Amino acid sequence: MPMVSMRQLLDEAAKGGYGVGAFNVNNMEQIQAIMEAARETKSPVIIQASRGARSYTNDRFLYHLMVAATEVYPEIPVALHQDHGNSPETCKSAIEMGFTSVMMDGSLMADGKTPSSFEYNVQVTKEVVELAHARGVTVEGELGCLGGIEDGHGADVDALAHLTDPDQAVEFVERTGIDALAVAIGTSHGAYKFSKKPTGEVLVMKRIEEIHKNLPTTHLVMHGSSSVPQELQDIINQYGGKMKPTFGVPVEEIQKGIQHGVRKINVDTDNRMAMTGAIRKVFIEKPEAFDPRDYLKPAREAMKKVVVARMIAFGQAGHAGDYQPMTMAEMAAKYKA
Ligand code: G3H
Ligand code: 13P
Ligand code: ZN
Repeated sequence: MPMVSMRQLLDEAAKGGYGVGAFNVNNMEQIQAIMEAARETKSPVIIQASRGARSYTNDRFLYHLMVAATEVYPEIPVALHQDHGNSPETCKSAIEMGFTSVMMDGSLMADGKTPSSFEYNVQVTKEVVELAHARGVTVEGELGCLGGIEDGHGADVDALAHLTDPDQAVEFVERTGIDALAVAIGTSHGAYKFSKKPTGEVLVMKRIEEIHKNLPTTHLVMHGSSSVPQELQDIINQYGGKMKPTFGVPVEEIQKGIQHGVRKINVDTDNRMAMTGAIRKVFIEKPEAFDPRDYLKPAREAMKKVVVARMIAFGQAGHAGDYQPMTMAEMAAKYKA
């Protein structure tokens, strides 16, 4: 089947009471790992590319790899999503390339670093909604800021000082018309989120309940949702890596979020760690190896294992065949109506 609208995936997830993992990709092996995991668990899935990923893959490679994914895995509904679009122009270019969903992250200015004003956020997000919905493309917006900087993206702010305001969220959704809202609840991108297992004081899951109460029909998105599992840290460090002790977002907390309107869960770091650990292991155990397949194959397998676990935990497993995907033209007509 062709790539499908993220809105449809999330509407179905809301009906079924489950969440859908949105996994970042930069290359063929990562796309294959996700699609294999989706096939094994019969899951609908969101594949997302950051601006950095689009530039790394030179866009057209990414697009054609995604077309290949839909041909090889025709039974899997898959949405292609622009992660953290920094401007309407970025979102527009993604839409023109065939992305079925975009994030306009107007919580930051176009530099991807400086927290913006509410009015700026409303203005750029609304602009993207208008051009995206006319083509049936889904829009995710963000209110509040995550902490930490990842690969040049993100505000270097105290995450707790920039949590999403539940009342402002209502005004934001009403004025922009977005399909999904990314919320700031104390998480950050990357591996270094918390210095100990997070309590409700630093990972403010209560905020999700409050936002969901105000916006019961808006799909909520959790960014920075890698769990940074100890066993992946251990593999990396056992084979010569130097990761400092760290804690991520426990899967049980994400499951609580799913009970309160979270429908899209962004995971990148866990997959990066799984691949890196597997590659380090081959380099140490087989120093004589030099064929990239010797390490990319185990890396792909390791990532698939993480994605399978998340698909089961988020509840999307078993739902790939539940519905008939709508075309983007049908989605556009639906938005118009
Ligand atoms: O939002 C951050 C994602 O993990 C993508 O990261 O910008 O390094 O590709 P990236
Ligand atoms: P992690 O760094 O926790 O995997 O978060 C990824 C993300 O939010 C991408 O937008
Ligand atoms: Zn993010």
